[in-house]
Amino acid sequence: PLPPYFAVPLPQPPVLRPVSTDDTTDYYELTARAGSARILPGVNTTIWGYDGIFPGPTIVSRSGRRTVVRHFNELPVPTAAHLHGGHTPADSDGYPTDAIVRTGGTLPDIRQYAGMTMSPGDFRVNYGYRDYVYPLNQRAATLWYHDHRMGFTAPQVYYGLAGFHLVSDDEEAGLPLPGGDKDLLLMIVDRAFDGDGQLKYPATDPSLLHEVGVSSRYHNGVLGDTILVNGVPWPFLDVANTRYRFRILNAANARRLELALDPPPADGPHFIQVGSDGGLLGRPVGHDLISIAQGERFDVVVDFRNYQVGDRVTLVNRAGSGSTAVVMQFRVGRREIDQSWVPSTLSDPSEYDALTPDLASVTRAMRFSGGNPWEINGAPFDLGRVDADPKLDATEIWKISTSAHHPVHLHLVQFKIIARTAGVRPTDGGWKDTFDLSPREDGYILTRFSDYPGMYVFHCHNLEHEDMAMMANVAVG
Ligand code: C2O
Ligand code: CU
Repeated sequence: PLPPYFAVPLPQPPVLRPVSTDDTTDYYELTARAGSARILPGVNTTIWGYDGIFPGPTIVSRSGRRTVVRHFNELPVPTAAHLHGGHTPADSDGYPTDAIVRTGGTLPDIRQYAGMTMSPGDFRVNYGYRDYVYPLNQRAATLWYHDHRMGFTAPQVYYGLAGFHLVSDDEEAGLPLPGGDKDLLLMIVDRAFDGDGQLKYPATDPSLLHEVGVSSRYHNGVLGDTILVNGVPWPFLDVANTRYRFRILNAANARRLELALDPPPADGPHFIQVGSDGGLLGRPVGHDLISIAQGERFDVVVDFRNYQVGDRVTLVNRAGSGSTAVVMQFRVGRREIDQSWVPSTLSDPSEYDALTPDLASVTRAMRFSGGNPWEINGAPFDLGRVDADPKLDATEIWKISTSAHHPVHLHLVQFKIIARTAGVRPTDGGWKDTFDLSPREDGYILTRFSDYPGMYVFHCHNLEHEDMAMMANVAVG
């Protein structure tokens, strides 16, 4: 049986404290390890989490201040940590074969998947821990970190290896947006549980050591019947009749969400979007429905002044049915004077506006297709092959075409969505690192490969597609 709706309050992940700081840098430590979580009533569920919790602790950084995260691994499997949305030098980006193996452990022998060949020599292994250095020369944004181990990202994220990493800056701090306990994180996932209340992932090799992937019936991705927000099922949140800011992350493996409020607000849009993957928009945009694919973030304000005290408002998923059509509930329980507001100008748009298609020196075509394996430009991932080689600081247009639904994610950069078959959507604005493409759609993105040369990946963020080879290499510079 599924757990009841709206029976547990929405938790917020704890904020991680630095272990030390100096003039330029904050130093953090995180340990990937097994933990026990109370997800279902009366049951302890074993998870794999950063510091043993799901979601992992939230890291809060200041733009331009270096953040060093020492990632320890105590799990029986290798890990690799990636800061999703981070403008990060290649050696700290969590390239999938840059593995952390627990102290005393060995790198497992992994059989090749499809065209993807792997031998121990392909891995750069750190034992015990690895230090990731993030310059964070980027705008205030809602980033997230998650496991990215070669071939096993999907199960390892499914078991809980994901957390938020927020970047703030002066521009954002100067805004009158809702703050404090009215600035909340929502990490939404779907999961399935077995009869003992343990996470059920249909891995071909349940040890997650040797064989990549899931059986063919799961090639489209692994879905669950239980929606979790910040690690608990269908929570509720008591709110005042004021504005709230929600940083929404779809961290599901394979489920795309279409979010709306039920009942709708008496006045105005359901959501006022203030930020996208890569940070604040120039101006707020109202939406009555937000389609959010895996890996995407929407930074929104919900104005509960458009409800009555006593109202119960459900955050629904129009793309789901039955138990997956419901996400969480807001209970408007008290009257308060709202001190916050959403200004008509949120951030300086000059950098965004200055990036124009005429600056592009190259247009590349990337076709996402296949099935077994999943492919980009007709080929499964190959560690040794370079699929795109932008020059350092080059501006490029990428034309991305799809067979099925694929949320396409590029590491290193934030990009601009400049066109798509059915026309650019109102939710496509702002700096993006993940682009949700519909079946048989062509989309065009514009980006600049700046600052950091090296080898990065881009891939589908349906994590089963990613593990089953829908990934490719970008060698910058
Ligand atoms: Cu969110 Cu390459 O990942
Ligand atoms: Cu895909």
